[in-house]
Amino acid sequence: MSISPTQIQLIQPDDWHLHIRDGDVMRNVLADVAKQFARAIIMPNLKPPVTTAELAKAYRLRIESQLQSLGVNGFTPMMTLYLTDNTSAVEVRKAKAEGVVAFKLYPAGATTNSDAGVSDLKHCFAVIEAMQKEGMPLLVHGEVTNPEVDIFDREKVFIDRVLEPLRKDFPELKIVFEHITTMQAAHYVRDASACNKNTLAATITPQHLLMNRNAIFVGGIHPHNYCLPVLKREEHRIALLAAATSGNPRFFLGTDSAPHAKGLKENACGCAGCYSTFNALGLYAEAFESVGKLNRLEGFASFFGPDFYALPRNSKIVTLHKQAQAIPCELPFGESTIVPLRFGETIAWSLA
Ligand code: NCD
Ligand code: ZN
Repeated sequence: MSISPTQIQLIQPDDWHLHIRDGDVMRNVLADVAKQFARAIIMPNLKPPVTTAELAKAYRLRIESQLQSLGVNGFTPMMTLYLTDNTSAVEVRKAKAEGVVAFKLYPAGATTNSDAGVSDLKHCFAVIEAMQKEGMPLLVHGEVTNPEVDIFDREKVFIDRVLEPLRKDFPELKIVFEHITTMQAAHYVRDASACNKNTLAATITPQHLLMNRNAIFVGGIHPHNYCLPVLKREEHRIALLAAATSGNPRFFLGTDSAPHAKGLKENACGCAGCYSTFNALGLYAEAFESVGKLNRLEGFASFFGPDFYALPRNSKIVTLHKQAQAIPCELPFGESTIVPLRFGETIAWSLA
């Protein structure tokens, strides 16, 4: 990696948590993604969800055909399966044979398109056992959905009620605690016991490194800053930034960029999700620079993800320039438009 006041050169990053959707909107998203990332973990929460190896293959083929028609070379989608109460252990072996890299746990009702998610993890013990045996990672949306739990506490409660018992039952299972948003999650992952050394990691989004929950409410309601898990207090943002910039390989880049058409965000019942793909690397660079830790960006963005998934690191080098980039107020999104994160603002770093 090389850093000067005007440019940063680093090995090309990957995005370890991404929603690209399907159909004609996917084309717009893929064009933005492939400019920045070499690979991305493709989340399976389509409607209907990607629950089998066969559906994952069909989705991958649709992605590849869009990439081909965009003329994009050198971007690889990494497919995942959506875990349900009915997923069988046999599906794990089928998924592995199909090149699927992980399963995703959505607690039922936790977020966008999670109705088919898991109602109780005890329905999934056989399939999780198979995942542990096959070395297939489980990616978790770490929030409980019990209505008595305050939405700002859902992640913290998930650690005690779900994650800790799960790790005790399956000590060899590889788990990624996705899009962590709290000090408790950052510390839990940092301090996880050494006998589970390479089994637990976490992804962190740019919005949770750059914003606290004021960004949703101050001066009027800001639907484009609303995502799940919801932004938290400043003390949590500071803890996440410390974790991301610590050089600890358990923390790596996952944007959770989750596009929804403008009209579905600016709505009486607006969807959860921030579209950060447009200049995701610039956003991360801004976060790391804010604490004088640009030297830690490459590990977080380009090394620790592939190391955790036991995949080769990328070799291509990309350059970020300190060149102000205006973030548009709207971008094309199929027949509709989408409002990117930090729309109308200027970001200091952008890709060459
Ligand atoms: C995601 C989406 O829209 O698919 N939304 C979000 O706010 N992050 C789902 C998710 O990852 O929770
Ligand atoms: Zn997500």
